[in-house]
Formats: sequence, structure tokens, C-alpha cells
Amino acid sequence: MNNVDRLRKNGTLTRGEFKALLTDKQGEYLFAQAREVTEQNFGNKIYTRGLIEFSNYCKQNCLYCGLRCDNKKLERYRLNKEEILQCCAEGHDVDTFVLQSGEDDFYTTEKMVDIIKAIRQRFPDYTVTLSLGEKDASAYQAYYDAGARRFLLRHETIDSGHYRKLHAGKREIATRIECLRQLKRIGFQTGSGIMVGSPWQTLDNIIDDIYFLGIFKPDMLGIGPYLVSRDTPFANRENGSLELTLRLLAIFRLMHPRVLMPATTALIFIHPQGREMGFLAGANVVMHSLTPSHVREKYRLYDK
Ligand code: 5AD
Ligand code: SF4
Repeated sequence: MNNVDRLRKNGTLTRGEFKALLTDKQGEYLFAQAREVTEQNFGNKIYTRGLIEFSNYCKQNCLYCGLRCDNKKLERYRLNKEEILQCCAEGHDVDTFVLQSGEDDFYTTEKMVDIIKAIRQRFPDYTVTLSLGEKDASAYQAYYDAGARRFLLRHETIDSGHYRKLHAGKREIATRIECLRQLKRIGFQTGSGIMVGSPWQTLDNIIDDIYFLGIFKPDMLGIGPYLVSRDTPFANRENGSLELTLRLLAIFRLMHPRVLMPATTALIFIHPQGREMGFLAGANVVMHSLTPSHVREKYRLYDK
């Protein structure tokens, strides 16, 4: 049996087999099998998420991200509750609203609860998904009690040394994992994921991430290429690989048949057909921006 069939059947491979699958010349069979599993589980349905990037303030300083607090070139903005509700009103054809921001303490737990409740009240048929970073368990609980049901928090890399380097020694992977555990315990459908091709990332790191996600079993998976952001210390690095990102999407589809997996925005920025390629590799979610056009350019995680 070849590695693709074995992965589909058993849900896992050895380290050497994963390495072969990630570097093989021939990807077509892998993609075809991933597509088949997606269709078996979801038919032709592509889910749409309405993304509302409501604040680009961030107290964190991740070396790879344009929103990092040391980036003084970025003009910052915040949307208030009414503005956020107006964004929601634009999202006729989406299944869920994703409220995303940097780690911005201006939005206290009370403020977020108020916003979530208002959305739930005005748009009761929509799921509220949050992507707000690391918070106390009590804050996560309050968001859940207010009606939010999904939370996205990529772990970025499971290797503690790599994680530390990407965050200039200021943050620990253990904290991130603890947040993910709390989210699951509270009952959130929880999303995680990685950037592909982030500085210093090795193939072994990626395989560790595959094994970690195999154990964590997220409900949603965000897998996108790392993209250079000029106003960060990584301005001279290279973008992550499109091909490797697509292979990972396909591998994750075979390992997690029911996972919700977007053709990420970064994938779309790296190649004009990135979205379609993502679907052909097993993605089944698309992000539709509901962020007001006058601030959209300022939500600059990476160069667009
Ligand atoms: N390239 C690609 N993805 C990035 N993110 C942050 N900076 C970059 C970048 N330069 C991703 C991180 C984060 C998500 C919100 O955006 O994975 O979790
Ligand atoms: Fe802030 Fe998230 Fe960017 Fe890190 S990745 S600087 S936490 S917005």
C-alpha cells in the first residue's frame, strides 16, 4: 500500500513516511484522495465565514506579524459595537461571523460580552466565532456564556524552542496549549493551526505539528503560508511554499475527515488561484471579508 492510502486508512504515518509525502514529486494522487474524502463528508458544500477584523491594536510583539506593537508605521483602528453590527448586516451569504483582532485590552471582557450578545440578538441564525488570542479562562467562559461557540487560536509551532524564537523569548508554547485546552473544556469548537514556512521552521517541526494536531483533534484548522511583512524584523525573509501548504492541507484532510479547513487568506495572497488550489487539496471553507473597506488595508498581518 502506498503512503497516501495508508494515511487514509490508518489516520497516521511514521515520521519517515510523512517526510516522504511532504517532499514527493507527485502530489496529484494525494490531492485527489483528499478531495474525495472532502466530498464524502461534505458533498460540494463550501462554507463561508464572514471575517470582521475589528481592531488592529495588539499588545503582543510576534516577530512575524505586521500588527506587532513595535510596528509604529501601522495606523491603528478600532470598530465600536454599532460598526461591528453594520459589518454583520453586510454578511447575507455567510454561515458564521468571525470576530478577529490583535490582543487588544481596550475590549474588556464586559465590552466583548456586550458585542457578542448584541450580535446573537440581532442575527440569531449565525454562529459567532472569535479569534482574539490568549485570554484568561474566565474571559473565555464569559464569551461562551454570551453565546460565542467557536474560537480560533493557532498554536503556530509546537516546538518550544521554535515558538520562543518566533516570539523573541517572550512567549511560551505551554501558555498557548493551556488556552487551547481551556477553550475545549468550556465547550468551544476550537480551531488551531500553523504557518507554513515561518522563519527557522524545519520539516521535523512540521511533522511534530502534524502529530500534535492528531492528538488535539481541532474542529477547525487554519493552515496558511507564512508571508513576509515588511514592517517586521523578518522583512528580508522569504514567503512560505505554496506547494508545501497544499500538501499539508491534503494530509490534514486525510487525517481529519470532518475538520473545517479554510482556503486561508494567505493562500489566496500567495497565488491568484490559491483559493481554488486549496479546495482541490481538501479545504472546504472560504473567508469573506466583512471588514469595512476604509480600514481593511490597515489589518496588515503581512504584505498584501
Ligand atoms: N504570514 C502569514 N500568516 C501570519 N499570521 C500572522 N502573521 C503572519 C504572516 N506574516 C497568522 C498567524 C496568526 C493569524 C491570525 O495570522 O498564524 O495566528
Ligand atoms: Fe498580535 Fe496575533 Fe499578530 Fe501576534 S500574530 S502580533 S498576537 S495580531
